[in-house]
Amino acid sequence: MDRVRTFIDGFDELLGGGVPKGSVVLVSGAAGTMKTAMTFSILYENVKAGSKALYISLEESQEDLRAAMESLGLTGLEDMELYILDIGKIRLEHREEELSKNWLEILQKYIDQRVRMNGFDLVAVDSLAALYSLSSLANPRRDLFHFFGFLKGLDATTFLISEVPSGGDGRLGRFEEEFLADGILYLRQFEKGETDVQLRLRCVKMRRTKHERGYYVLIRDGVKFQLAPAISE
Ligand SMILES: Nc1ncnc2c1ncn2[C@@H]1O[C@H](COP(=O)(O)OP(=O)(O)OP(=O)(O)O)[C@@H](O)[C@H]1O
Ligand SMILES: [Mg+2]
Repeated sequence: MDRVRTFIDGFDELLGGGVPKGSVVLVSGAAGTMKTAMTFSILYENVKAGSKALYISLEESQEDLRAAMESLGLTGLEDMELYILDIGKIRLEHREEELSKNWLEILQKYIDQRVRMNGFDLVAVDSLAALYSLSSLANPRRDLFHFFGFLKGLDATTFLISEVPSGGDGRLGRFEEEFLADGILYLRQFEKGETDVQLRLRCVKMRRTKHERGYYVLIRDGVKFQLAPAISE
């Protein structure tokens, strides 16, 4: 089976080589758990390896996103086949129409067109919470079933960023995304003692894959992401 590598050192081995191509993967985590950075880096590294990718940013502006990613060492973006769609900008320019539009529908049409025309291999949506706030979901379960079905039918691997409250009830999505997604990567900050906090990553599920389920420490060293074993106290 073809797999999309994450290029996070040590992680692809735990996933049997990577994420099965064509999967819809949820990247869940509380605020500041590097959901954006990790997802962007997966697209970035794949583009460096020859793929084409589309990053759809609903709230963070293109300028802010680029600056943040460059400060993390993801440089040379201007010459890469990594396209950033800045929905925030479109929203600001069409403020009066914002509420009358159903962005879930608009985005679906846009993604469909661009994946077919430009041949994107990877697509990321940052974030689902922002998308929901712009869409009137009459029946969320049904609407998301169709949205996920559409994404699965695409000739691309998709990453959907899902914001979960810190110290929440354990749910990794707002509706039924956990059950609709093919895979879930979960990021979480662990308090260690009185003062330290450690960022950890775990693969909660990955269909068609025999994978590890445990937590690993996620480190960004200025050049790449890497995993280290999490020692349980
Ligand atoms: N150069 C860096 N090296 C390591 N970590 C960094 C660096 N720059 C920022 N960070 C960390 O990354 C965090 C932000 O990452 P990111 O924006 O990807 O998180 P996020 O989960 O997408 O956040 P949000 O919930 O706000 O969308 C910062 O809060 C900071 O802790
Ligand atoms: Mg983010």
